Amino acid sequence: MTLDEAVARIEDIPTIPTVLGEILRITSSEKSSVKDLAQVIYSDQSLATKILKMANSSFYQLVQQVKSIDRAIVVLGFEEVRAIAMAMSVFDSVYLRRGGVYYNRLRSWNHSLLCGLGTRILGSLVVKSRGLIAELFVGGLIHDIGKVLMDRYFPEQFARVLELVEETSISMEAAERKIFGFDHALLAGRLLKKWKFPNQLIDMVLYHHHPELARDNQCWISLLSISDLMCHQLGYSTYACEPKLGLRKLLRSEMMKGLAQMSGLPYKSHSLIDSLRKLKEHLTEVDRLSGILLSP
Ligand SMILES: [Fe+2]
Ligand SMILES: [Fe+2]
Repeated sequence: MTLDEAVARIEDIPTIPTVLGEILRITSSEKSSVKDLAQVIYSDQSLATKILKMANSSFYQLVQQVKSIDRAIVVLGFEEVRAIAMAMSVFDSVYLRRGGVYYNRLRSWNHSLLCGLGTRILGSLVVKSRGLIAELFVGGLIHDIGKVLMDRYFPEQFARVLELVEETSISMEAAERKIFGFDHALLAGRLLKKWKFPNQLIDMVLYHHHPELARDNQCWISLLSISDLMCHQLGYSTYACEPKLGLRKLLRSEMMKGLAQMSGLPYKSHSLIDSLRKLKEHLTEVDRLSGILLSP
C-alpha cells in the first residue's frame, strides 16, 4: 500500500471538516469574536461538555468553576480555549470512533495528553506568547494520531507492527516503515494537510521523530520530541513493548543534546529535570481526566 492509497482510504472522519474546520476558520480570521468561537463550540454539545470538563480540571487551577464556554474564553483566553477545542474535536473524531482492535486507545490518549502538557511546560521556558504555548499543547496532543488511524483503518498490518516491536524491540516508527512503507508521523502529517491544519501543527506532527529534517519550526518540533521522549521514560508510552532508553542515558545522549540545541532550551541547566518533575505531578490528573473523556 502506498501513502497516497492509505490517505485516500481514511476519508470518513466527519468532525474534522465540520466543527474543527469551523474552529480553524474562525480563529484564523482577525474579524472573529469570542462569540463566534463560543457559538461553533455550542453547535456540538458533547464537545462543549468536554471542553468545560477540561477547563475545570486541575490543569488550570481555576479558583471558581467555569460553567459556560463564554466564561471559559474570558478566564482561560481565546487561544487556550481554541487549543482545547481543537484537541477535543480530534479526540472525539479519532479516538472515540469504532474500528481497530489491537491498540489500547486509552493508553495512547494518556501518552498524548501528557505529551501535550510536557510540550507546553517546555515551551513556557523559551516563549512568552500565550497563543504559541497553546499551539504547542495541541501539537503534543495530536502528534501520534497516525497510530490510532493505522490501527483503525489497517488493523491487520498494524497488528504486525506491534508484533514486530514486541519481538525485535525496534521503535514503532521503524516497524511501521517495514510493514507499511511509511510511518504514523508521515500518514498523520499528510492528513492534517488535507484537513487544512495550520502549518506549524503539521510540521510538529510530521517531524516529531526527526526535527532535524524540518525546514521550518524546528524549535517547536524539538520541544515536542523532548516531551515525547520524557513521557516514554515516565512509563507513558503508547505501547507497553516500545523500547526505553532510561532517563539518565536519555538526558546524557547526543540526541537529547541536539534536541535541546534546536529547541533553544538551556541543556546544561536543570530545566529538563525540573520539567520532568512538573510533568510527574500531572500523572494522576491525566488518568482521571482520560477516564472522564472516554466515558460515553
Ligand atoms: Fe510518534
Ligand atoms: Fe509519541
